[in-house]
Amino acid sequence: MLPTSSISDLRTQISETRQAGSGVSIISMVCPEIAATARPGNFVNIKVNASDQPLLRRPFCIHNVRGDIIDVMVKSVGRATAQLCGSTCGESIMVLGPLGNAFGTDTGDFDTALLVSGGIGTAPMLFLEKRLAAEGHHFRHLVGGRTRSDLLTRGLSNCSTATDDGSEGFHGNVVELLRNHLASRPSSERSKVFACGPNPMLKALARFCKERDISCELSLESIMGCGVGICYGCMVELNNANGEKESMLLCREGPVIDSSRFTS
Ligand SMILES: Cc1cc2nc3c(=O)[nH]c(=O)nc-3n(C[C@H](O)[C@H](O)[C@H](O)COP(=O)(O)OP(=O)(O)OC[C@H]3O[C@@H](n4cnc5c(N)ncnc54)[C@H](O)[C@@H]3O)c2cc1C
Ligand code: FES
Repeated sequence: MLPTSSISDLRTQISETRQAGSGVSIISMVCPEIAATARPGNFVNIKVNASDQPLLRRPFCIHNVRGDIIDVMVKSVGRATAQLCGSTCGESIMVLGPLGNAFGTDTGDFDTALLVSGGIGTAPMLFLEKRLAAEGHHFRHLVGGRTRSDLLTRGLSNCSTATDDGSEGFHGNVVELLRNHLASRPSSERSKVFACGPNPMLKALARFCKERDISCELSLESIMGCGVGICYGCMVELNNANGEKESMLLCREGPVIDSSRFTS
């Protein structure tokens, strides 16, 4: 996990919006300073409009960087995300970032990167794929959802999918898909898992990787306020190096953590 260097707070405009799935949109914004230094795993904290409703910014993973433009992939779950998903080109927003740490793609301890995601947890994976490809790594996406319409695979290469109801891809959850995938690979191949998704999925994945001694980084979520370590709104309890529970600010020390910190 890599720390972030410089942070910018930009007033900008939405340059494009696209539907990516049911209740999910990709929102593009011109943010040159953020685009220049962002790394996969980083997030931005967005004030979705100029009014005080909602008052606080909302955190979103950086989905993609295209020149001066950054994209976020947003699932509508409440007031701010509904406003973002319903926004149009030219609307003004404030974007703070890049925030948080990044996935460790340069750790040198793997032959193949396995990008495991569930639901809106697929949001950071396109940017991560692009970084891995540029660094010459082999990678495969394992993408899970409850049903076919939850799979957000648009733009991704080398993708296997799993659905709980069997409507597309493997019939089962994405951790079972990972188990099957690994069984089909040579045991000499060193894999590293990069994951994002709902907490129960990440818990199961952390356990799975611990039992098999597979290197694994997870991107976690919590409720956030400031995004920069001031409000203490994002405190989470995780294991420290001695296996004891310890509180940490997810916006500052995360959102990417080693999976050993997330096992019970
Ligand atoms: C580091 C980070 C990266 C994120 N990346 C993305 C992303 O790329 N795309 C995306 O769609 N969402 C992402 N989220 C979640 C997103 O920030 C929340 O969905 C959003 O803040 C909800 O705002 P709202 O006003 O629409 O909903 P609210 O009205 O505030 O809440 C609606 C419901 O969502 C729950 N909720 C609110 N915030 C969170 C949260 N942070 N985690 C879990 N549940 C929450 C509330 O408890 C409530 O049940 C990320 C969160 C974090 C911490
Ligand atoms: S969100 Fe404010 S301290 Fe982390």
